[in-house]
Formats: sequence, structure tokens, C-alpha cells
Amino acid sequence: MTYKQVVELRVQRIGIDGDGIAQWCGDPVYLPFSAVGDHVRAVLTVRRGGGYQGRVIEMLAAGEGRARPPCRHFGRCGGCALQHLAPDVYQSAKLDGLRKALVRVRVDPGVIQPLRRVKPARRRARLGLMRPRDPRQPGKVGFREHFRHEIVDLKQCLVLEEPLFALGEALRSRIAQLLSPGSTAEASLTRTDAGIDLLLTSAEKPGLGALEALAALGAECDLARIVWLSPFGEMPIIERRPVYMIRSGARVPFPPGAFLQASESAEAILIEEVIGGIGLRRPALDLYAGLGSFGFALADAGPMHLVEGDERSALALTTAARHLAGVTVEQRDLARDPLPSEALASYAAAVFDPPRAGAASQVEALAQSSIEAVVAVSCNPATFARDAAKLIAGGFRLDRVIPIDQFVWTQHLEIVALFYR
Ligand SMILES: C[S@@+](CC[C@H](N)C(=O)[O-])C[C@H]1O[C@@H](n2cnc3c(N)ncnc32)[C@H](O)[C@@H]1O
Repeated sequence: MTYKQVVELRVQRIGIDGDGIAQWCGDPVYLPFSAVGDHVRAVLTVRRGGGYQGRVIEMLAAGEGRARPPCRHFGRCGGCALQHLAPDVYQSAKLDGLRKALVRVRVDPGVIQPLRRVKPARRRARLGLMRPRDPRQPGKVGFREHFRHEIVDLKQCLVLEEPLFALGEALRSRIAQLLSPGSTAEASLTRTDAGIDLLLTSAEKPGLGALEALAALGAECDLARIVWLSPFGEMPIIERRPVYMIRSGARVPFPPGAFLQASESAEAILIEEVIGGIGLRRPALDLYAGLGSFGFALADAGPMHLVEGDERSALALTTAARHLAGVTVEQRDLARDPLPSEALASYAAAVFDPPRAGAASQVEALAQSSIEAVVAVSCNPATFARDAAKLIAGGFRLDRVIPIDQFVWTQHLEIVALFYR
């Protein structure tokens, strides 16, 4: 149901998704891009989470702790949610969700360390592409609007690495050759160690004009590879050189669309904390290994077993590990078929870095195992807290939680947590 009611509200707190929350007739109203203390006129749009989604239409009085957003698109673009907060308010808004999630499972939030900051520089992004029906209208390339499908045509972006932004511009200039009138596509841009890998996802197959445009785009932007994914299958368009990531000297092939930590400097902090947390305990496990960012770094100090569910990523790990003594790889679905506690008995430590849903079944087995040290990496405080509570119930002590601002100006938070028996 769509509402059009206009109300006056005062923002009371920032929710875990970064939206300001006010109350109206006892129900929460979620107001994107607002700050605590803002007195606003807002329109209630749709029902959301037992309350309403709202949109600020007039700022009657700004709350304290606001900052001037540095990007011209802030307030519309769904890429960022928190540019309008002063640094100390920003920091507590970022950590609030983690604190609440830990309290909810009766874990002392005193274990949370100060937020580790990194420069906003994302090496992967998913941008929307749109070609209007009207040939007089220019194409659009950018993130979707907050809570809406509309693409915000990016004229600047302060979070993308510069070559990814430049690729967005180049895609826009060729949109008429790439897409049919009125159609849209998604572009996943990943800056690997061999250059940019571009994965286009569309409902249509590429036409001849699109193939020619992509070949020219590849040369102009020095792309490593372009792949086109549609319901008709995955079509390699160009591969100008093999695509890979270097992991502690090992060359790991990069499958199209594979996972990569969004920011290189945040990944460096994650690796440093994982190495510090696991110490010299070997043999060790890297569960949900992706392309082995942790596993290969840990392999310098002894045997590592890397477990990954995605077939192509597991194959890439196997290829990279072929010439390395002491690194073994297993493809396994750890949600359906977790490593049982008896199998875990041969390991001294484990790191796990699951998708947002967390690692419920695998954590169950870890909690029952004899493993002495577990490092959890997570991008979701809620599922992390649930998994942490299980480990603690199994006899682990949560030593500390290191929050990392990998997704600068968004509500998302990266976490590393160290558990010991
Ligand atoms: C958050 S990524 C972490 C990757 C790696 N640790 C890194 O830092 O790049 C999660 C990884 O878990 C894998 N994955 C997702 N579901 C899985 C499952 N059920 N079993 C095993 N691996 C899974 C994904 O393919 C992805 O590579």
C-alpha cells in the first residue's frame, strides 16, 4: 500500500541500516540520510518493519552532529548512506549495530576495539546501466537510488577506485551500442591484479554492435577481460590477458564474478588480524576461503587446508596450490555439509569468513570440536553475533572484535573476531 501522508518528525536514533528513525503514532518511521535531532517534514511512503518508510521533504531544523556530504549525489544515490554525519557520530552509528547485536546475545560489547578506518577506494562495484527509450535522452550508469530501482547517473564517485569510475564513463558513452532502447543491465567491475574484469549481466544476448563496442572498450580502458552473462549462458567477449590475484606469491586465477574483499587496504588489515589471531597454530583451516586471501597468507607458517563452496573458486585455489607444499583444497558446501567435529580434531586453528547469512551449521561443529583458536570474519553483525554466541556456549572466550570500515559511508561493517579456548 502506498501512503502520501505528510508528518512532522524528530529523528531519535540511527538504525542498523543507517537510516534515521523517528516515531509516529507509536510506530517507527525510517528516514534515509537523516541525523539524530533532525526536525523534519516527511512523507510516509510505504509500510516497513512494523512502521513506515519515510522521505524527508523539508528540513525544519538540523540536528547536531551533521557534516557537509562531500559527494554531489549524496541523498539520492544508494551507494552511500552516512556522508552527512560528523566523524564521531559516524563512528558510533557504524558501531551501534554491532554493539546491539552483541548485547542481544548477552556478549559484553566491551570487547569491541576502535573502528579501523581506511580510505574510501573500492576495487569492486556493481553498477546499473540504462538506455532510455527516447533516443534524445542520454544513457545512465551508476548505483541504484536508495530503496528504489532508478539509476543515479554518476558524475562523480568518491568511493570507487578511479579506473572503475572511468570505466563507468566509458560504458555510458557506448550505451546505445550495448543495450536496446528501454533496456537495463548490471555491470560488475572488479580490479584484479591483472587489471579490470568486467562482467555484464543482461536479459538479452549481446548483438553485433555490442560485441564491436565491447572490443573497443576493452582496448580503450585496458580491460583484462569482458564476460556477458544472460539467461542464454555466460559468453566470454574478450580476454586480453589471464585474470588473476596474487596471494602471498601464489597466482590464483580469478573466475568471472568471484568474491574479492571490496577494498584492498581493508583486506590488508583483515589479513594482518587473521595472521595475528591464528598465530603459529598449524595445521589450520581457511573455511569459506574464496580465492585464499587468508589461506595463502597463513601457509607461510605451516600446513593449511582451504575449503570453498563455489566450484570455480575451488578450482582456482587448486590450480594455485598445485606447486605449494602444505596447502590442500576442498570443494564443499559448508552450510549443507559442514566439516564435522571429528574432522576438525586434526586442526589447531580455523578462520571462517562466510557470506552474510553466517556459518550456523559449521559453527555448531567448531563449538563441539577441540580446536583451540577460531578467527571469525564477517560483514554482518547480526549473524556474527549469533555465531559468536554458539562458539562461546561451546567453551570459547571472545577475546576481541576488530571493526573495520571497509565500506566507507555505508551502513555495512566488516568485523574480525578472535576466539580462544
Ligand atoms: C565473504 S566471502 C570470503 C572469501 C575469502 N575469505 C576472502 O577474504 O576473499 C565468502 C566465500 O564463501 C563462499 N561460500 C558461500 N556459501 C558457501 C557454502 N555454503 N559453503 C562453502 N563456501 C561458501 C563464497 O563462494 C565466497 O567465496
